[in-house]
Amino acid sequence: MGLKRPDDAGVYKITDDIAIIQTVDFFTPVVDDPFTFGQIAAANALSDVYAMGGVPKTAMNIVCFPSKKMDLSILRSIIEGGLDKIKEAGVVLVGGHSVEDKEIKYGLSVTGFIHPARILTKKNIKAGDNLVLTKPLGSGIVNTAVKGGRASPESIKKVIKIMVALNKNAADTMTRFNVHACTDITGFGLVGHMSEMVSDSELGFEIFANSVPVIQDALYYAQMGLLPGGAHENMKFYKNLVKIMPEVDPIVCDTFFDPQTSGGLLIAVDQKETDALLTDLEKNGVESAAVIGNVIKSTGLKIIINK
Ligand code: CO
Ligand code: CO
Ligand code: CO
Repeated sequence: MGLKRPDDAGVYKITDDIAIIQTVDFFTPVVDDPFTFGQIAAANALSDVYAMGGVPKTAMNIVCFPSKKMDLSILRSIIEGGLDKIKEAGVVLVGGHSVEDKEIKYGLSVTGFIHPARILTKKNIKAGDNLVLTKPLGSGIVNTAVKGGRASPESIKKVIKIMVALNKNAADTMTRFNVHACTDITGFGLVGHMSEMVSDSELGFEIFANSVPVIQDALYYAQMGLLPGGAHENMKFYKNLVKIMPEVDPIVCDTFFDPQTSGGLLIAVDQKETDALLTDLEKNGVESAAVIGNVIKSTGLKIIINK
C-alpha cells in the first residue's frame, strides 16, 4: 500500500503471513508538562499502527530541541514520557535522531506487524455497518481553553487522561471481530476523517449527534467561542459534504469538526457484531466507546447529522 491511496500508515508485504506497517508522527507541545507531552506524542504516533489493525513492534524517537536555550532535563522528561507509553505498548525503542531547533518537537517513527489479509484500511465499509468511536471528542477545544487560561483543573485532568490513553486495547479488541474499516481521529476531526472513508464510494454516514461521546466541558468552552483555528478550517473544508438537521445542537456539532490530538479509533463493524464488540471494549477498559452512526447508501451528501 503506497501513496496513491493514503491511509493511516504505509504497509509493505514481507511474506504471505507478515506485512510491516510504518508510520511517523511528531509535533510541538500540546501541554506544559514535558513528561505528559512525551506520553501524548508517543500515544498519538503509535495510534496509526493500531488504526491499521496492526501490532506495533519497534519505535524510534524524533526530537527537535533548543539545547542552548533550554535545560536538558526537559528533554529527558519528554523522552521518559514517550518511553513510558512505548513500554506500555510492548514496543522496543531501537534508536532515534535529534536536531537543534528553535522549537521543541517530539514524536516517533513506529514499525508494526500485521497479517496481509487482515489490514484495516479506511475503505471497505459496507452499507448497514455500525460506526463505533472509542474516545470522546473535544480535546482540541479543551486545549484551546487551556491556552486561554480558561480551563478548569478537572477538565485539564480529563483531557490529558484521554490523550495519553493508548488505542492498544481498542485495537486488540476490534481485531477479534468482523471489522470492515478503521481509522483514528486526529487533525481533521471526526467529520474530516469520516470523509476519507466515504470518498469515491456510493456510501455515506448517518451520525446520531446525541450518541457521540464528547468531553462535557468541551461543550461549555465551545459555547464560550473557544474553538481552535483548526476547527474553523475543518468546517470550511468539509461543510459541503455535511448536512446538519435543524434539530441538532450546533454546539455539539462544533466538536465533530474539532481537531483531535491522540483521538480514538473510528471503527466500521458488521452490525451483527456491534453489541459483542461494545461489550468487549468495555471489558477491556475502553470506557467511552459508543455507536455513533451507520453506513448508508449515498451518492450526494456524504455525512448526515441527525439528533
Ligand atoms: Co491516522
Ligand atoms: Co498520523
Ligand atoms: Co485503518
